[in-house]
Amino acid sequence: MPDQPVLVGVDIGTTKVSVLVGELERDGASVIGIGSAPSDGLRKGVVIDIDRTVRSVMAAVEEAERMSGYKVRSALVGVSGNHISSQNSRGMVAISGHRDVAHDDTLRALEAARAVSIPNTREILHVIPRGYVVDGQAGVRDPIGMTAVRLEVETHIVTAATTSVQNLSKCVQRAGVEIDELVLAPLATAEAVLTDEDRELGVALVDMGGDTTDVAVFQDGSVVHAATIPIGGRSVTSDLGIVLRVAPDSAETIKLRHATALPLDIDPDEVVQIMSIGEELPHGVTRRHIAEIVQSRIRELFELVAREIEAAGATNRLQAGLVVTGGAALLPGLGRAARDQLGMAARVTGPHGLGGLTDQIVGPQYSAASGLLLWGARHWGAGEEQAGSRSFDGLGSRLGKLFRGLVP
Ligand SMILES: Nc1ncnc2c1ncn2[C@@H]1O[C@H](COP(=O)(O)OP(=O)(O)OP(=O)(O)O)[C@@H](O)[C@H]1O
Ligand SMILES: [Mg+2]
Repeated sequence: MPDQPVLVGVDIGTTKVSVLVGELERDGASVIGIGSAPSDGLRKGVVIDIDRTVRSVMAAVEEAERMSGYKVRSALVGVSGNHISSQNSRGMVAISGHRDVAHDDTLRALEAARAVSIPNTREILHVIPRGYVVDGQAGVRDPIGMTAVRLEVETHIVTAATTSVQNLSKCVQRAGVEIDELVLAPLATAEAVLTDEDRELGVALVDMGGDTTDVAVFQDGSVVHAATIPIGGRSVTSDLGIVLRVAPDSAETIKLRHATALPLDIDPDEVVQIMSIGEELPHGVTRRHIAEIVQSRIRELFELVAREIEAAGATNRLQAGLVVTGGAALLPGLGRAARDQLGMAARVTGPHGLGGLTDQIVGPQYSAASGLLLWGARHWGAGEEQAGSRSFDGLGSRLGKLFRGLVP
């Protein structure tokens, strides 16, 4: 058993479940166990088959347990899917006795912001402070220690469909793992791929997975918009399957071996042999044709990403541009395709910031799981003083967990 406090992150994706076990360190976490198992119980980010999902989670957890020698009892779990929505809300409290604003006052203000009316089919995942207003003076980042009679907080509230959250929770619990916290997946991923400077300058994080692409837009240091687009790497594979008339497995192999997002970079005479369904002999298609099929789907996806940036009111305002991650971001030429189409900076990256056994998790498909550990290290490791800081209301989310009632 490790001596340090241990954190576990469980990322339930549409193609794989990843589990990371990490020892908490002063400024992050050190990976001591990794588990990964194919996932086939989700569609578009939402659980549609509990038994299959439970099996995937158990397989990934067991692998991570064997590697770390640690029994996984509880974990941070990422939540994604198009049932997620977010809105702004303001909370106000009086500071009696003309005294300095204390940490408790910021928590009270956050609780007041939480009292926003949401449909009873939805629940709050996060209450994120974006800035404070002290006696009418807006734009205050940290009000603690200021003298005031009235404190307001501007927050971004992320909500999720209760049934989707409960089904996901059920899968984790049936796999024998309690939930420390449910974290909006792109917010966790952001911990592994974005810098503080990115968030200050303005950035759109794009996590391209199997069935889905998560987008989170950050401005002035905090998140302003989050959404899930129901298109991912599997959409590309399925297009190749349909257009080239090949089985899904062959389509995936063709994609991994020959696809790129930039057809004009490919020699028009380069031909690859493929075997179409119902045919006896392979036949040739140009690699450029393959790239064109891929490109049209990627274009559609970035068009939808641009719409989310617009919905965030951030068009032409993201100085740090796009940061693209997730397994589907491994497609060659993707970064340049994004830059050309959206006219903004774009970089493709895997996770950063963890120590320990990171050799196997350098790829962008591990950004979400890595981010969950980093999220845990930031919010659970540092204690209450983190609440109300730059990014999150740690205490609020913890209260949320208690309110939610863990066992459905
Ligand atoms: N080298 C590669 N080139 C292109 N695509 C790739 C490559 N490697 C993996 N992919 C694609 O990445 C996708 C899976 O990505 P990832 O592992 O991030 O998904 P996930 O986290 O399981 O799903 P989601 O985030 O949608 O829930 C698959 O569609 C796969 O084909
Ligand atoms: Mg993913």
